[in-house]
Amino acid sequence: MQIHWDRFLTEKVAKRLEPSLIGEMMMLVKEREAISFTAGEPSADLYPLEELGKSFERAFGEPSLFAYYPHNGGLLELRRWIADWMKGDGLAPRSLTEEEILLTNGSQEGIHLLAEAFIAEGDAIVVESPTYPEALLTFRRQGARFLSVPVDRDGIVPEALERVLAEAGPVKFIYTIVNFQNPSGYTTTDERKAQVLALARRYDTVIIEDDPYRHLRYEGAPQGSYFALDGEGGRVIYLGSFSKIVVPGIRVGWMALPPELADKMTELRVSCEISLPALTQYALWDFLKDRDLPHYLSTLRGAYRSRRDALAEALRGQCGPLGLEIDVPQGGFFLWGRIPWVKDMVAFARYAIEEERIGFIPGRIFFADETEGADTIRFSFAKVDGDLAREGARRLARAMTSYRSALNN
Ligand SMILES: Cc1ncc(COP(=O)(O)O)c(C=O)c1O
Repeated sequence: MQIHWDRFLTEKVAKRLEPSLIGEMMMLVKEREAISFTAGEPSADLYPLEELGKSFERAFGEPSLFAYYPHNGGLLELRRWIADWMKGDGLAPRSLTEEEILLTNGSQEGIHLLAEAFIAEGDAIVVESPTYPEALLTFRRQGARFLSVPVDRDGIVPEALERVLAEAGPVKFIYTIVNFQNPSGYTTTDERKAQVLALARRYDTVIIEDDPYRHLRYEGAPQGSYFALDGEGGRVIYLGSFSKIVVPGIRVGWMALPPELADKMTELRVSCEISLPALTQYALWDFLKDRDLPHYLSTLRGAYRSRRDALAEALRGQCGPLGLEIDVPQGGFFLWGRIPWVKDMVAFARYAIEEERIGFIPGRIFFADETEGADTIRFSFAKVDGDLAREGARRLARAMTSYRSALNN
């Protein structure tokens, strides 16, 4: 007898999950052996595998790590290291301790736990327009009602935020990606942060500050964090990750929490999983603790900076004359752009992979309101060296030319 699963599954699972368009593009790229400007992940040639390998060997010499780890928030040594690192960097108030750091399976798990903790069916939340689609997926699954607020080169636009907060009634939180935002590459200035935090206080809502790209700044002055700016106000939750600066496969991120929330979030975690692997957390801690981190990060930055410049130059040279406009960010992994004459970027993305074997991400999926962003486009330069950038840009230019003439015929 055939089972009709929709009868058994919750609405959350049966109706609110859908295949990811990023996944489709990455799969198509693979099938067609296309040049890819799709994946927002670090470049494998920059993985510090030799050093990490030694750290894993040392972790294997610690038998206690093979038992259930007794601290539900994660490895104490790593949590202490993160608390000190954040304070040293001016990202957290001096009062922060390891008690307020909860290790997660990448910052994506932090997003999931916060969605579970905060969002009840129909609750309003503010998201940036555009924003990170996997966060939208998680919040949508939970039943969130999205209030989209535009971002410009300095971050969330405060006047737009104020209008939304004034009209919406209670808002559970504002979800914001503060540095080299995915996908726009924009960074929220400290001046903007002060304005947004003042609004969050006035309208009594909370800020979730997602910050996986902070340490990939290629130029300009580093900005502070909402978490530090709020001090002991207890209104901000900070999400960090080692995915972009060490390796994504190690799956270590963290939440820095207001003290009153730390126990509750840890209890929530225990209701989902007993613990995360202390073995990998130990290996990461071992890797980090004796490292010359500024030197390590500056090597990464140097490599990504030249990739950014190569792709920006190639796209401007080849595709600019055909109508592609791009924003070049001060850090992170993404160039964000528009082709104003392309009215359906999803169709063009499929065409470009099929006809010219060049992949990129259509921008529409980064908007909570999917009628927005039809002509926008995201390119990731993280895994693209100069030769690939130039060849990819030539292919994109050919795809633009033939697509335009097909549209005109
Ligand atoms: C803005 C943003 N937040 C969170 C994540 C999740 O990263 P991870 O779970 O690997 O830490 C990503 C990954 O691309 C991201 O771009």
